Amino acid sequence: MNNNISRKKFLQYTASAGAAALLSSLEGFAIETKQQKLRVAVIGCGSVSNRYIPHLQSSSLIEIVSLCDIKPERAEAQNKQYNAGAKTYPNIDAMLKGVPFDMMVTLTDMQQHGQLNKKALLAGKHVWSEKPMANTYAEGKALLDLAKQKKLRIWGAPAVVNSPQFAFMNKCIQEGKLGKLASAHGQYGHTGPTWSAFFYEKDGGSMPDLGVYNMATLTALLGPAKSVMAMLSIVKPERTVDDKGTVKVEAEDNAHVLMDHGNGVISHVMCGFNFFDPHGHEAGNQTLHSIQIFGDKGNVRLIGYDWETNGVILDDSWNEPPKLLSTDKGGYVWQEGATKVGESLINKTEPTINVEHALHVLEVIEAARKSSATGMKIPMKSTFKYPVL
Ligand SMILES: NC(=O)c1ccc[n+]([C@@H]2O[C@H](COP(=O)([O-])OP(=O)(O)OC[C@H]3O[C@@H](n4cnc5c(N)ncnc54)[C@H](O)[C@@H]3O)[C@@H](O)[C@H]2O)c1
Repeated sequence: MNNNISRKKFLQYTASAGAAALLSSLEGFAIETKQQKLRVAVIGCGSVSNRYIPHLQSSSLIEIVSLCDIKPERAEAQNKQYNAGAKTYPNIDAMLKGVPFDMMVTLTDMQQHGQLNKKALLAGKHVWSEKPMANTYAEGKALLDLAKQKKLRIWGAPAVVNSPQFAFMNKCIQEGKLGKLASAHGQYGHTGPTWSAFFYEKDGGSMPDLGVYNMATLTALLGPAKSVMAMLSIVKPERTVDDKGTVKVEAEDNAHVLMDHGNGVISHVMCGFNFFDPHGHEAGNQTLHSIQIFGDKGNVRLIGYDWETNGVILDDSWNEPPKLLSTDKGGYVWQEGATKVGESLINKTEPTINVEHALHVLEVIEAARKSSATGMKIPMKSTFKYPVL
């Protein structure tokens, strides 16, 4: 069996539909009200764009008007593949001078997100960014401040708070079904991307690529982290990838992160690029309990992953067997974030996804790096609205 996850195989496994979650008003933010559709520009036409482009196209409120990639043939190929009828550009500067648009969707190498998102905001565009929205918390916070100053919105992936399974676990916790909360665990790993070097280069790594999902889920369910401790390592010092051949691995490919959520609640996330899993990136048939939350009266275990949720087991009885509940995905798919926030701009509603939460997770990642390097517990300064639902 091939232990590597090819891009093609991954893409075969990760297609599906979309869902909604719209709450309060977005007054005060700039969007032309007369407009029928939100005009979107996608930057980065690699692997993940194969999930984003069709999902954005599935919305009657969104129109993709621009596609951009520094490998311009990729933008052109995606334009053709998805019959987008968009203008294509070889760099962000050309795109910002090109056809007008309202929101940029950033799907490039992780290390590029911060500077690209800043350019878009400075040019008066809303932003949805794949994770991480910047390379550091400070850079991300500066982006949010800039967006506020310019009456624009910026959001960052992931969209895990949108799933019905997240809502179910949140309800169990908020209604006290689990009793006094104590401990939680999240895990996500596979044998690592094979297509691009950036996953292994500085400011890449398994935390911003994979652990970010569990960190988002656990902080959203248990509350913002007050402090973080971590051990990170590089298991494989070299990788061979499609775009650059053999490269030196500079970012962690193995991470264990502890978060203190206050009130005695501690959670643990482990993620990495050396986790054998016969399902690979496929989660549709995944039976792994990737998120487990324990209180003194019950526990919940998420089946599948928080980005592809297959159900939740609730175990809260001394006499009854554990119950498999919340198996309906309700249309939730991990690639829906840009579509949902885009629709919220047009509908003037507030999406469940919250940028302060994305920034908090970015601070957790940075704190984990600092903790591993120094052996210290790192206090957190950021927070977000909790509970999120
Ligand atoms: N691949 C996935 O399935 C997946 C899933 C979820 C999230 N993500 C996230 O999506 C992002 C992209 O991942 P990917 O797997 O699609 O990578 P990729 O390497 O397949 O694609 C990235 C693309 O961005 C382009 N690019 C890089 N710098 C650019 C710049 N300055 N301007 C314009 N284009 C630029 C590259 O040429 C490349 O085509 C990452 O943040 C990743 O963590 C990926």
